[in-house]
Amino acid sequence: MRTGSGASSTTPNEVSAFQNFIDLVTGGGASFARDDTIVIEDGVASKEEYLRVQFVDGDRLWFSAINASAYSRGLRFAHAAGSAVRQVTLVEKTVAIDYVLTAATGTITEVTEFGAGNKVLMTYSTDFVIPAVYGGTLNESPDLEESWGDWMGKALVSGTYQLGLYAVKSFSVTVVGTSTGYSDASRPAIKDFLVGSATAIEPNQRISSADNCYRCHGDISFHGSGRRGYETCLLCHGVSGSEDRPRYVAANAPATPSTTLDFRTMLHKIHQGEDLSQGSSYAVVGFGGAPYPNNFTAHSYEKVGFPAKPSGTKNCAVCHGKSNEAWKRPADRNHPLGQTLPTRTWRAACITCHDSTAHVAHMDVNTSSSGYESCDVCHGPGKAQNVERMHLIR
Ligand code: HEC
Ligand code: HEC
Ligand code: HEC
Ligand code: HEC
Ligand code: HEC
Repeated sequence: MRTGSGASSTTPNEVSAFQNFIDLVTGGGASFARDDTIVIEDGVASKEEYLRVQFVDGDRLWFSAINASAYSRGLRFAHAAGSAVRQVTLVEKTVAIDYVLTAATGTITEVTEFGAGNKVLMTYSTDFVIPAVYGGTLNESPDLEESWGDWMGKALVSGTYQLGLYAVKSFSVTVVGTSTGYSDASRPAIKDFLVGSATAIEPNQRISSADNCYRCHGDISFHGSGRRGYETCLLCHGVSGSEDRPRYVAANAPATPSTTLDFRTMLHKIHQGEDLSQGSSYAVVGFGGAPYPNNFTAHSYEKVGFPAKPSGTKNCAVCHGKSNEAWKRPADRNHPLGQTLPTRTWRAACITCHDSTAHVAHMDVNTSSSGYESCDVCHGPGKAQNVERMHLIR
């Protein structure tokens, strides 16, 4: 129940739906704090909405992202420039103690007096419904936008989608008064299914088989042994535009503005580790056990060597598979309708291992000012510098 309201400000620019932050006019951020609940467009029908602030970054209020539910994920509605933003006080009411709920009609009846004139906010869950548009990515921010394949707010595209299910068991063993905690995860059950007008399943075959990884790793278990199996990783790390842990989750974390968790980029970089030109400045911010604002660990990979013989990471087929074609040319990842800046698929894959300033410049120079990449002209299949030929193993 809403019992009061506090400081207020306004938005200088228009704000789009799904966005997971709002900007306030100069100086507006000073009136707000982490954990505040705010209302935007108070009293305006079909526009009024409530969100919990995770981080105040100057005049920007950050919410959350799809991978973390403690704060609001993002906006339900778009708002015009000049929209009012106000801090409100909410008091939680408990079912059976403060009110009873008639589920069939959604009616609530007060048991204790709520107080005349106070607004009552309710949330409810339903069975999962596939949304009409894409939500943001993991640790969403505007740093990696649609040129990195982030489809936030764009219409759902027909095609093959994946559902994965895995289980994690945590337990502790006590020996002579000392307890040690363990957890272990199952390999996933994965099911491809069709959405919209698609008629044939097109499985993800960028890596021909997870066994290619297990030749070196035996097993792939990560996140405190909470996730296991390459197919599990891809459920999250196959998402274009996904980002490492942001400062709105861990305020003292270093800013890593263009770091993606997408395996197309991150997994190449990890294994290129010691041969990267800028390996020591490549950091991925991950989970950390310390309390907020130090709940992060920054990982770098400049000591990782890739033991494949011959030629190390140049031996693309070691991971991709002998008969695999996916590594020879990145697939088109433009949205069929909603793309304004083209997705730079070559950058996402090639900049990973070839990270020197000269190489980055070569890629930027060969990208038009409107964002189109010309790489295919020289590096496409059959062309003089085609990817396969450039990575021949001798
Ligand atoms: C030729 C051997 C080899 C192959 C093939 C290989 N890796 Fe690795 N990988 C390594 C080595 C060596 C390291 C660095 C040492 C370590 O952390 O185990 C590493 C590190 C990693 C890390 C980072 C671990 C950390 O502690 O941060 C991940 C994740 C990973 N590999 C996943 C994969 C996946 C997924 C595949 C398949 C697509 C794969 N690897 C294929 C050798 C290999
Ligand atoms: C449910 C989503 C999810 C799954 C499944 C998942 N990850 Fe992650 N991973 C993340 C997120 C989110 C981050 C960024 C850190 C954060 O915000 O917690 C991350 C960070 C990482 C990092 C970089 C930073 C660090 O913590 O070392 C590596 C390496 C990694 N994951 C490997 C894996 C591997 C290997 C698997 C499969 C066994 C896997 N992940 C499965 C969501 C996931
Ligand atoms: C350590 C394992 C590993 C090695 C070695 C490796 N890759 Fe990859 N590559 C991956 C993974 C994992 C992905 C992402 C798979 C996914 O998203 O389904 C990927 C994705 C790609 C893609 C993107 C495909 C697309 O359609 O977007 C290209 C291109 C690519 N790799 C090229 C190469 C080239 C060229 C080499 C050798 C010079 C190479 N890779 C070596 C693991 C590897
Ligand atoms: C997994 C790491 C990796 C990825 C991904 C990768 N390369 Fe390479 N590439 C190498 C290595 C290693 C060499 C050997 C020469 C070197 O050390 O730079 C190489 C060599 C080359 C060369 C020959 C340069 C020379 O001087 O011999 C070209 C051209 C090239 N890559 C283009 C690409 C393009 C285009 C992509 C994206 C489709 C790509 N590479 C992706 C690792 C990678
Ligand atoms: C006009 C032809 C042309 C275009 C277009 C072009 N490249 Fe190249 N690229 C080359 C040549 C030539 C080399 C040097 C090959 C060698 O060393 O044998 C090269 C080298 C590279 C290398 C390897 C650098 C090294 O020495 O390790 C990468 C990575 C690369 N290009 C990526 C790209 C990407 C990504 C694009 C598109 C954004 C692109 N190139 C567009 C001709 C081109």
